[in-house]
Amino acid sequence: MGRIPQHFIDELIARADIVEVIGSRVQLKKAGREWKACCPFHNEKTPSFWVSPDKQFYHCFGCGKHGTVLGFLMDHDHLAFPEAVEELAARLGLEVPREGGGEAVAPRAEEPLYELMARVARYYAECLGREPRARDYLARRGLTAATLERFEIGYAVNSWNDVLKRFGGDDLARRRLAETGLVIERERSQTQFSERHYDRFRDRIMFPIRDTRGRVIAFGGRVIDAGEPKYLNSPETVLFHKGRELYGLYETRRARSNLKRLVIVEGYMDAVRLHQEGIDYAVATLGTATTAEHFRRIFRLVSEVVFAFDGDRAGRAAAWRALQQALPEAREGRQIRFLFLPDGHDPDTLIAAEGREAFEARLAGALPLSEYLVRELSEQSDLAHADGRARFAESARPLYQKLPAGVYRELLLGRLAQVVGLGPERLEELWSKAPGAPAPAPAPAPPPTARAGARARLSGGRGSLVRQAIVRLVHFPAIAAEVSPAERSGLDASEEAGIALLRELLDNLREQPAQISAQVIQRWAGRDGGESLQKLLEREEVITDAAAAAGELRAALVKLADLAAERRLQALEAKSRTGPLTSDELKEFQRLMSIMSARPARHG
Ligand code: GTP
Ligand code: MN
Repeated sequence: MGRIPQHFIDELIARADIVEVIGSRVQLKKAGREWKACCPFHNEKTPSFWVSPDKQFYHCFGCGKHGTVLGFLMDHDHLAFPEAVEELAARLGLEVPREGGGEAVAPRAEEPLYELMARVARYYAECLGREPRARDYLARRGLTAATLERFEIGYAVNSWNDVLKRFGGDDLARRRLAETGLVIERERSQTQFSERHYDRFRDRIMFPIRDTRGRVIAFGGRVIDAGEPKYLNSPETVLFHKGRELYGLYETRRARSNLKRLVIVEGYMDAVRLHQEGIDYAVATLGTATTAEHFRRIFRLVSEVVFAFDGDRAGRAAAWRALQQALPEAREGRQIRFLFLPDGHDPDTLIAAEGREAFEARLAGALPLSEYLVRELSEQSDLAHADGRARFAESARPLYQKLPAGVYRELLLGRLAQVVGLGPERLEELWSKAPGAPAPAPAPAPPPTARAGARARLSGGRGSLVRQAIVRLVHFPAIAAEVSPAERSGLDASEEAGIALLRELLDNLREQPAQISAQVIQRWAGRDGGESLQKLLEREEVITDAAAAAGELRAALVKLADLAAERRLQALEAKSRTGPLTSDELKEFQRLMSIMSARPARHG
């Protein structure tokens, strides 16, 4: 057998998810942006084996083993290199090509499926240029040439075999077309071979669906004007899993380097139109409900999402489904909100009618998840009466129980208790022993002290500035390099709790830069503060944007320096009332005064 071409190996590593592969063999636990486990290569009780999804690399700080997903498979499954390649390829549904292999195959046959999809997308776009009916339709719908180009919108001609003829020159090429769902293969029958296949998309406007790297993985095809079905999508293939993809996500990431929020809409046209009008952070689910997988994707990128649903009955039903899917994802630091459009409108028609600013104003006023939940349940129960409130409590229970433990859950409990007219503890108690309660035991209420503690932290005491700074450093150690010497030395006079750890962490990272969290945790293993760092990393706060984290870190340092300066000033002032200051103290007083007066006034 011939050699495996390098490009294929690169492709494999690029497509495989090391977390998924290792996770299917080793029990991984999330730690910030990375994952950890007890090392499968040596005996240990505390985890020092780390997997980085960003770097697609694993490293064991205990035994020193490290490598890529292929290296892992070789070591873990005791495979030779080609076997590891075969294993990974099989997992991804790919065939391993061989260089100069014995079997003579047309060069096309080895073309990766992605390239085939890209060529077909380009071809559809060309066809749009030649079909006035399709162009007119899109113009009537208000799409500009720039938008058509940005989304590479195209047209599939009205033929049963146009794509088949053009891209399916031989048996293998036809098989590849069938694999991507572009052509459909009839059941084996007496028909001639070439008649067994036919084009899936005929006389439709074509929307290429891309993965986050911009590779075309599927298409959505809309009829021109009226017809059934209105939209036809590619089937599930090795490239395309519709419960995972969001239409427009690639274009969104390309448009925005600092993405803060996403708007989730239901239709292709909605996403495209919103982008055109400047809401270039809109993505569409592909005719499915929002899945857990979608949420995982979304919250890896942003901490804020707004769902925009049509105001009709179907839209409201879809919103309620989205709420239920969203509950397990709701936690502090994340914002999940719902926007209901006026009846008869979808985002496409509404932004056309009202313009960008009005639409953005609606987004800004979207209902938070908790309020939507309360509103919806209140509408089903008459809260003026005791049995209505009881019914409310009963229907809220299963929803509440989907929330992960944490501050957000506590807050929602408080809100629900308020509606019912009971104390939160009482409500939880009722829930825990309601008659006919199904098997899954309601989550135990945290002890009152823990709850009080959580509230205090949320309200943001001064200690939390130190914490905020440390959390950001642990998640993105590389941002330590962006702290200026002045910002660093401003911490010297600080006496906040935990400040020693923060200073040490900063100094260490500035001297020996680290790229990933695992390195930091490892450096502190067994040292003072090591466990706190680990806990902070595991708290899963949504800190996804290194640039934002750097800004927040520096802001926290400045505030800490201000606090220290303020405190020192007060001490000097107090002293000056009981006697004269030394000349050094006087100089320090003047220096601090000039720093503080240069700062904008702070509130609170
Ligand atoms: P336009 O009529 O072009 O504005 O589309 P729309 O996005 O407003 O359509 P609609 O609200 O009816 O549907 C929303 C989404 O559901 C679409 O973008 C498709 O993803 C999906 N969808 C709608 N109709 C069909 C259908 O007939 N078949 C399939 N598979 N999906 C559909
Ligand atoms: Mn529409």
